[in-house]
Amino acid sequence: MRTRENFDRNWMFHVGEVGKIVKTVKKAGMIAGLTNALGEERHEPFALGEAGRVTQNVIREKTGDPNFEISQIYGADTPKDKITGWVGVNLPHDWRLEQPYNPESGGAFQGYLPNGVGYYRKVFQIPQEDEGKKIIIEFDGVMRNSSIWVNGCFVGDHLSGYTSFHYDITDLLKYGDEEGDNVILVRTDTTGGDEGWWYEGGGIYRHVWLTKHDYLHVDRWGTFVRTERMDNERAAITVETTVSNEYPQPMKYSIRTSILNLDGELVAVKESGCETSGIDKQTVLQSVQVANPLLWSLDMPHLYEAITELIHDRQIVDTYRTVFGIRTVEYRRDGLYLNGKYVQVKGTCNHQDFAGVGIALPDSVHEYKIKRLLEMGCNAYRCAHHSPAPELLDACDRLGMLVMNENRISESTEIKLDDLKSMLYRDRNHPSIFMWSLGNEEKISGSYQANRMLKRLHDLTKRIDPTRPVTAANLSQEGMDVEVNGANYAESIKGRQTIGEWFQSLPEAKVLNTENVSFFSARGVYEDDREGGRCSSYGSKYTMFGKEMDVGNLGGAGGTSTPERSWRYFLNNRFSGGLFVWTGFDYRGETTPFQWPSVLSHFGILDYCGFAKDSYYFYQSVWKDEPIVHLMPHWDWPDRLGQQVEVRVYTNCSEVELILNGQSLGKKIADAELGEHTLSWHVAYEPGLLEAIAYRDGVMVAERKETTTEAYSVHLEANRSELLADGQDVSMVTVSVRDESGRVVPVAGNLIRFHVAGEGKLLGLGNGDPGCHESDKGDTRCVFNGYALALIQSLEKAGEIRIVAYSEGLVPAVLTLQARKKFAN
Ligand code: GAL
Repeated sequence: MRTRENFDRNWMFHVGEVGKIVKTVKKAGMIAGLTNALGEERHEPFALGEAGRVTQNVIREKTGDPNFEISQIYGADTPKDKITGWVGVNLPHDWRLEQPYNPESGGAFQGYLPNGVGYYRKVFQIPQEDEGKKIIIEFDGVMRNSSIWVNGCFVGDHLSGYTSFHYDITDLLKYGDEEGDNVILVRTDTTGGDEGWWYEGGGIYRHVWLTKHDYLHVDRWGTFVRTERMDNERAAITVETTVSNEYPQPMKYSIRTSILNLDGELVAVKESGCETSGIDKQTVLQSVQVANPLLWSLDMPHLYEAITELIHDRQIVDTYRTVFGIRTVEYRRDGLYLNGKYVQVKGTCNHQDFAGVGIALPDSVHEYKIKRLLEMGCNAYRCAHHSPAPELLDACDRLGMLVMNENRISESTEIKLDDLKSMLYRDRNHPSIFMWSLGNEEKISGSYQANRMLKRLHDLTKRIDPTRPVTAANLSQEGMDVEVNGANYAESIKGRQTIGEWFQSLPEAKVLNTENVSFFSARGVYEDDREGGRCSSYGSKYTMFGKEMDVGNLGGAGGTSTPERSWRYFLNNRFSGGLFVWTGFDYRGETTPFQWPSVLSHFGILDYCGFAKDSYYFYQSVWKDEPIVHLMPHWDWPDRLGQQVEVRVYTNCSEVELILNGQSLGKKIADAELGEHTLSWHVAYEPGLLEAIAYRDGVMVAERKETTTEAYSVHLEANRSELLADGQDVSMVTVSVRDESGRVVPVAGNLIRFHVAGEGKLLGLGNGDPGCHESDKGDTRCVFNGYALALIQSLEKAGEIRIVAYSEGLVPAVLTLQARKKFAN
């Protein structure tokens, strides 16, 4: 029977080289050292700090030199902790995040966290009864250039940090007590050149799995369940199953596919007899009908499960599960259709990292991010510019978020074709994925060479998945040969024609905005601060390249476009599908418009912790139906008494009145049809209460900003007060500094110390400040403009988790969470 064990726990980790890298062997089994278990570590995970001694012993043994000293490899003056510098870690893990920022290396694109080498080593046992099964180790993602050894054998290199890969290690393993312990060594090396122009992290940053199954089995990523036709009464589904027979002899068996709804009820079943020759694969198609199908849609993301069983000699020898949805997607000349209904793409582009964890996101952090975007009214996520962790796609399937899944590099070399295949086969059952993107703004795009390569990728994609439209994101539409033209920044790029003219001139053309806006701002910042590396939320006066423009601080460039301008562009070009805003969240690296001291990008609508910037409410007001009104800036300007302050309101209401300390400052009208969602007043500052009262269809909504008094207390609030005691689950705890009346002090920067006790730990910290150089992995953090975020992770035992946050001179906060073995329903 198939099992899939999570292989994330009890690894040892070492930064920097540990010895000579040997990938070739003269004779099988000659290479040992760290890639083999040593007698003394039998049944013991590699003991903390022992690696140097172990390496030394091995080298003494192998070279026959009893006087060999490990310092001969590392240099005599290498500090001792470098030699014995192995530490215990659980995955996912991003080792680069644990290193200090370095303005001299690393560079702005990588957020000043330097590249390097990191090793992971794990000792594990395989029981005797597993002999006779196929054993596969699966890596969802390793950053990058990984090299892997198992029990002295070099197993393989994998280059891309973004694609999943696996190795069959059946024969290399040792089974049972008598054969002994197994060792896997993984070298990760980010020094060989970056894959992207954003922070890419380093290490085994996604899950690792050990899968065991019969020699007759469903191939890896071997099912494809697709909706052919559907109406209210029934859906016609095709299930494509690739079976691998790794026995030397032909095998007769049957494939039974059972379709279950989310309650686990059987809704359809099909069984087909097959025969596959020895050491061969075979693909079998089955048609099933599902009566009264519950469609996957954005409001009701219904899921189904296909259970594939291989039956040989009346025994079930393999069981494989595929989660899927019943739905259709189509991209027409006027945009996206889901289940035959038009859907405006309300999209954000996103890289994969997050505060406190870098690229190593626990599953619940993926889910948190998707929920934050949904709350904004966003309905589509572009995986820029590479395919994501599987758990992000699972969250999108469950929560109802459309996904554009993107290939990293648009080249048709064998190696890049393999990367593309890995994305397509792994992900093609996710109902959330509505489109494949073959790449983004490739340098050579538009050339004959680029088009030849693109065509090859396009044809391969269509063969592996004929059900979804395919695009490639580009700055120019000319010369592109893809099904749907992906337009980046059409609102700003001045070509020979407008996008509308271009579109009208080609009766077959379809276009989707794949990237828009690129507006930079730091949360709660209302004036550019070059020294601090932060941009104004009104729109910065700095250009993309850090040049200061003479436009004052109001209405400056703020990036490639502004939210307002991009939205109006879409209203005037509705055929272009919607918007994909660059970006949903801030990310590390690409610190535009400044370099050091900025270490984070500023493009996010949400900051690096997922806290809303002001523009979040602009998008809410254009993407959500309910009435929205938002007021900026905060109302704490003691240095500006009597001076003019611009007050901006984002709204989808037709009329807004601004009131300061009970005095009306006038009403303004916004016409949403014309794309008017931003209103502005210039107000002579006086402390007190500023209110925006808005009306839509007789409904009133209001927002207020009050002048606060000095910082008084620390406040903690968790998004979830109960965690699963699985050593993985995370609660996102918002930390704020408040005044005596409980109002968040919007300019507070107090240093907070954290202490976590009981059945949980502090996984990481962030505050969303692009210019902050405190470590995400320490136990102190300054709040930035009033807020910080603490990620609290469960351990493996149920019980209380107590978090204390304290700061000099402030009333501390205590929060208790519960870690449970199971949630009550
Ligand atoms: C785009 C690019 C993104 C990001 C953005 C910044 O052209 O596709 O990856 O660099 O610019 O504005």
